[in-house]
Amino acid sequence: MPDHRPRYHFLPERNWMNDPNGVIQWRGRYHLFYQHNPHGALWGNMHWGHAVSDDLVHWEHFPIALTPTEGDFDEYGCFSGCIVDNDGVPTMIYTGTQAHPTNGMPYAQHANVAIGNEELTAWRKHAGNPVIRPPDDYHNLMGFRDHCVWREGDEWLQIIGAGVNGQGGVIFLYRSDDLLTWEYLHPLCQFDAVVFDGVQVGTMWECPQLLNFGEKHALLLSVMDEKGGIGTVYLIGSYWDRRFEPERAFVLDFGRMHFYAPQALTADDGRIMLWGWITEGRDDALLVQAGWAGVMSLPRVVTLGEDDRLRFAPVQELAQLRGREFGRSNVPAIQSSTLEIYAVFKPTERIEIAVRCSERERTTIFYDPKCAKLGIERGKSVSAGSHQHDLTTLSGNYSLTDGELTLHIFVDQSVIEVFANGEATVTGRVYPHPDSLGIAVNAREEELIHFTAWELNSIW
Ligand code: FRU
Repeated sequence: MPDHRPRYHFLPERNWMNDPNGVIQWRGRYHLFYQHNPHGALWGNMHWGHAVSDDLVHWEHFPIALTPTEGDFDEYGCFSGCIVDNDGVPTMIYTGTQAHPTNGMPYAQHANVAIGNEELTAWRKHAGNPVIRPPDDYHNLMGFRDHCVWREGDEWLQIIGAGVNGQGGVIFLYRSDDLLTWEYLHPLCQFDAVVFDGVQVGTMWECPQLLNFGEKHALLLSVMDEKGGIGTVYLIGSYWDRRFEPERAFVLDFGRMHFYAPQALTADDGRIMLWGWITEGRDDALLVQAGWAGVMSLPRVVTLGEDDRLRFAPVQELAQLRGREFGRSNVPAIQSSTLEIYAVFKPTERIEIAVRCSERERTTIFYDPKCAKLGIERGKSVSAGSHQHDLTTLSGNYSLTDGELTLHIFVDQSVIEVFANGEATVTGRVYPHPDSLGIAVNAREEELIHFTAWELNSIW
């Protein structure tokens, strides 16, 4: 069976993973929790998995942190949430789901609290759970889940993702003095349209997170409509008087559903870093056969550019994984499925870097300045069993400001992450034959300014 398991991206030892949860730097160490089904390779039975790292690169698997309690407020699953430091007391806020209808939803969703031990390995569920139920005057909700909590003066504020069926997304805002008793304030932001600033914003907002960049704030939203997930977007706007006024909207990653439900932490050194769930592009039968599903993205440092758009850069700690190095003249010698590529172009027409290549297969990362398109073409990524794989092209509109394009590409078996000038990203999955290991650069001599590639080592 072809081995598509990534070598330097985080994933559990086996079974299903989705959203990053409760990402926090605690006593210096990075803790990554995640939505996890410990009983199978498909979604269900949501627990919180747990892993710890000292360097953002190497991860140690820890025991499961949170398990649903039968017959209780989270019996159908411990869904996504966050962890905050309450004066030295690690406090988790997560969504409990129960299989009975409320507020127009086919299930009940509500906020719960759990208190952690010093190692963040044992979590005691608060006796007064649930601590928040959906507002009474909303009868037609698509969901009520996922939590972002922050401190403002002496108070705690919390937002919860939701959406009104057939209408649009809504984020509910709450306040608390102690993280246990919450008062509903008002919607932080609510739409009654499914398109904003030319971007599809759906009717249900999952995993909301408000990032503070001083004068401007960014509201990250994982959006879905009645048919399912669409992708991650961010709204740039101002946060004032406890309301968020959106001005612009952007697609966060052109891979759309392949970079979903991201969550950010602010590290002790001030960096804001984001992890996203890299979804699969193969069908359920293949997931069950493989015994695992879902990959965590590389941590991305997020900043706000002067043009009020977000910038994304892979954390510099990843450089420690670099092994054998290749310059532009040794491109034909490269045979690897775990690569970092750094290339600079001055493209006048379509340029390409093809990875995971053989005579029959290739995955093409391209930029076309004529139509301002950046993407990953997957039509030839897999030559066999292709009906079980998503082979659509992942792309988006991206214009160069000064004619120069830096492509920073990470290839890890079945995972591709592309950073274009730090301004646009494309994340995707491909499942080629294990022997498709070559790469090819298609650009005219004078268009390629620089090229370096490194083989990357495994983190395990
Ligand atoms: C996003 C999401 C969240 C939810 C979790 C359940 O992928 O649907 O809204 O809390 O996954 O696993």
